[in-house]
Amino acid sequence: MTQPAARKRILSGVQPSGKLHLGNYFGAIKQHIALQDEGECFYFIADYHALTTLPDLEDDPKKRAELLRSNVHDVALSYLSLGLDPKKASFFRQSDVPEVTELAWILSTVTGMGLLERAHSYKDKVARGIAPSVGLFTYPVLMAADILIYRSNLVPVGQDQVQHLEMTRDMAGYFNRAYNQEVFPLPQERLDVAAVVPGTDGKKMSKSYGNTIDIFAEGNALKKPVMSIVTDSTPVEAPKDPAKDNVYALYGLVATKEEKAEMAQRYRAGGLGYGEVKKALLAKIDAYFAPARARRKELERHPQAVEDILQEGARKARAEAQKTMDLVRRATGLR
Ligand code: ADP
Ligand code: TRP
Repeated sequence: MTQPAARKRILSGVQPSGKLHLGNYFGAIKQHIALQDEGECFYFIADYHALTTLPDLEDDPKKRAELLRSNVHDVALSYLSLGLDPKKASFFRQSDVPEVTELAWILSTVTGMGLLERAHSYKDKVARGIAPSVGLFTYPVLMAADILIYRSNLVPVGQDQVQHLEMTRDMAGYFNRAYNQEVFPLPQERLDVAAVVPGTDGKKMSKSYGNTIDIFAEGNALKKPVMSIVTDSTPVEAPKDPAKDNVYALYGLVATKEEKAEMAQRYRAGGLGYGEVKKALLAKIDAYFAPARARRKELERHPQAVEDILQEGARKARAEAQKTMDLVRRATGLR
């Protein structure tokens, strides 16, 4: 009799850096949730990583801690209300598994400076005005430790994280070769179809560009960004190319295949104004996330239940992390 294949281990981390938007949902969260049924999932809130980019609130350092705590709670509420099932996936805070910082240190000792110096995300963040701390520079080492400590096979992420995955494979290889043991399997990224979701200005949707549509926005807070989406100046009567329009790109994410095809046809026929498409998009987004908004309101009333879920997730994750660290300590001679 053949043995059943081992279940793939799937892992991803999300930064607690503010309100989640449609780019986060269609680029990351949606596939995280769909993958719950395809393997053994570990999902965590990357609070150690968030320390590298929290704004400097010099006048009152307490505010920084409170901001982190509230952002972590916000992400936890968001994931749980969008369908993360703690019975299927271990869902936890990164810092509740402190072993990951030990592995990051060990990986840093087999990793050349040159590898980190080539990281795009470091350069991009510094260019955006984030203070170039040592932690920001070694961010990819901690991320590699996150992935390798659970000996993950598959890492669902957006396009902007692909280089970090390449670096993770490099670091796994450096370690395995340095200690002549296959401690770490080489993880693969998995990209979703909507690899880049456009923001209201047509650039990549991102918190740092102020062009987001938030998942849990409702009423005016949803209407305002949707109605402000930038379009070209083709007059109402003229036929339009749906492939060139941001409103259509977003509509395609929340509409069914049939609705999308019908809308494309109306673009090409002419006589359809962008204002009308925006209204259709607004109604679709509103309906798409209505069930998650309702679940979130319910969960908001039970903060302790949310914390209990994170603690239980951490307990399971930590047991796995400790097994890996045992192998690592033996391999390196630390034990
Ligand atoms: P932001 O750019 O708003 O700071 P993050 O860098 O925190 O977003 O991204 C969190 C996750 O969401 C990552 O996996 C990232 O690839 C994905 N993501 C963010 N914005 C988009 C987007 N516009 N399109 C597709 N995926 C995105
Ligand atoms: N760097 C990721 C981001 O900005 C977050 C992250 C941290 C992560 N550790 C990870 C993602 C491990 C996947 C796997 O989105």
